[in-house]
Amino acid sequence: MVLNFAHRGSLTEAPENTLPAMMMAIDGGAQAIELDVQLTKDRELVVIHDQKLERFNPDYPGLIKDYTLAEIKQIDVGSVFSDEYKGTTLATLQEILAICPDDLVINIEIKNIPIIYEGIEEVLLACLDQNKRLTQIIISSFDHLALEKVQQLNPAISLGLLLYYRMLKPWEYVKGSGLNISSVHPHVSYTDKAFIDAFHRYGYKVFPYTVNDLEQYGKLVSHGVDGVFSNNPEIFIR
Ligand code: G3P
Ligand code: CA
Repeated sequence: MVLNFAHRGSLTEAPENTLPAMMMAIDGGAQAIELDVQLTKDRELVVIHDQKLERFNPDYPGLIKDYTLAEIKQIDVGSVFSDEYKGTTLATLQEILAICPDDLVINIEIKNIPIIYEGIEEVLLACLDQNKRLTQIIISSFDHLALEKVQQLNPAISLGLLLYYRMLKPWEYVKGSGLNISSVHPHVSYTDKAFIDAFHRYGYKVFPYTVNDLEQYGKLVSHGVDGVFSNNPEIFIR
């Protein structure tokens, strides 16, 4: 079975990573969603891709880590998308979890670069525990030390290892990392059949990002890909 993720929710239909974007994806029939988490000044988990707010509201040039959740909740991040979403605010992870059906797969990406949120792994696992949501979860990150920390705290949780640049024999790196990785999430640009086959031989699933073109998607499926992250509802709802 190929498992496709609505990348940041349905980001072409509603502001990325917000509750409406997640609802669109879920209501449309997505089997999996992807979202990014960061920590506020008062160490609450909010769902946003950038470490700065600016792209979502130019009046707020600051960093997520410098706002409290109460302050974040006063900031409109929907108007830049369209007037229809004026007043939409960033969601907490807890708010998103509350609308997710039990069988939905949720990929939670820890955004830990360039700012490193010390202890975000503990906060994330506590949130998942409190919300009784420790299954159907993949925790991923480009920060492999964050994955190591998650594994130390909860060895049972599924881990997704994100890759950006091409690497020499990344399957050997992953195998030798000591991490109990279930899936590798490479940039799509270099994800070809040989790459997928090599990771499969080592026992890892391959979920490339971000695949929006149907022809490219069809080729990856024919090469045995396990799923993709996509902004295109024609791909993530099927
Ligand atoms: O998790 C896949 C993808 O979301 C990683 O890149 O920059 O969109 O978070 P980015
Ligand atoms: Ca992401």
